[in-house]
Amino acid sequence: MRQIDLEKIRKDTPGVGTSAHLLACGSALMPQCVVNAIVEHTQLEAQIGGYEAHAKEVDKLDRVYHSVARHLGAKTTEIALMENATVAWCHAFYALPLKLGSRILTCEAEYAANYVAFLQRAKRDNLTIDVIPSDASGALDLDALQTMMDEDVGLIAITWIPTNGGLVNPAADVGKIANAHGVPYLLDACQAAGQKRIDVAELGCDFLSATGRKFLRGPRGTGFLYVKESWLSSLEPAMIDHFGAPWVARDHYELREDARRFETWENSYALRAGLGVAMDYADQIGIDLIENRVTLLADKARTLLSDLPTVNLKDLGQDKCGIVSFSIADKDPRQIVQQMAKSGFAIGASQASSTRLDSERRNLPTMLRIAPHYYNSEDEIERAVARLGKLL
Ligand SMILES: Cc1ncc(COP(=O)(O)O)c(C=O)c1O
Repeated sequence: MRQIDLEKIRKDTPGVGTSAHLLACGSALMPQCVVNAIVEHTQLEAQIGGYEAHAKEVDKLDRVYHSVARHLGAKTTEIALMENATVAWCHAFYALPLKLGSRILTCEAEYAANYVAFLQRAKRDNLTIDVIPSDASGALDLDALQTMMDEDVGLIAITWIPTNGGLVNPAADVGKIANAHGVPYLLDACQAAGQKRIDVAELGCDFLSATGRKFLRGPRGTGFLYVKESWLSSLEPAMIDHFGAPWVARDHYELREDARRFETWENSYALRAGLGVAMDYADQIGIDLIENRVTLLADKARTLLSDLPTVNLKDLGQDKCGIVSFSIADKDPRQIVQQMAKSGFAIGASQASSTRLDSERRNLPTMLRIAPHYYNSEDEIERAVARLGKLL
């Protein structure tokens, strides 16, 4: 298999060498080409004006939809660009017609932002939220999901990779079950995008949301929503403006035919340009190579951490991803993060309330997270764990 050109990749990444950044699950280091795209568009706005810059670069900016679509195996008309993953997810969720009394099925690792939206709609539309139990490995239990399916299920909405650890839920198998029952399937791919291959046909999802800033290495303030074509004719966004729904007569608006009906008129075109370049950059390297290297580095971190006496690894699932979660007995995780930062290592913490169901079930404290990306070196992992060892 082709190898990753680590030397070139590290040269492309201005943040390499500043600190050992090991938090791609938070917000990864952008490559210089992404920064350039953002700065160039901003410069153009400064020189000729924002509207004029958009008009001048409209073809290039339109190609961002192609970049996102190609990365997902989708059509450009199925993509809406958003300012983050939560807004993308909410646009799909709040647009979905759910009959009074219907059931939402979700997973134990569901992200806080999604779950509070479930709670709001459950209250408003008299819905039930049913949590699919996990199997012995900690992943969503497919057999349990099968037995939970009935005619009242209005939506399956799960997180593919949770914010709080290495678990990878069987997103494509869930898609098969959802499709077999004709139930809409909304997939949170926020932590998967940029570290795993995404093929919406294979996943069988109707909607998929993700962010730009994490493993995709795009800028903060970017995200996107995939909406399967067959939904577009029937889905009325919960919130519209005259971009997604042009005002065509005094008493009438007409929704756009593509997924951009979920967008609004004003946007950061500089950040969008950066997002497009980030996705092209990932695709040039190759997502399978990226996934292999991320897994290798994360496994290395797990192995080294498991040798430290008071460290408890917390990752669930059989095949683990690039997020390594752990706690340290008798240590305040926030203090550890600060001490590591002082020593030149960016790691993070995940609060129990970000994934409350899982945290309560496993009685989890605030956990520490290390999430290497392919630009990290083996040496950075070794040094980070060695430093942690000195803080115990
Ligand atoms: C699994 C998961 N879903 C959704 C989000 C929300 O993403 P954003 O902050 O871009 O809205 C996050 C952010 O950490 C996440 O980890």
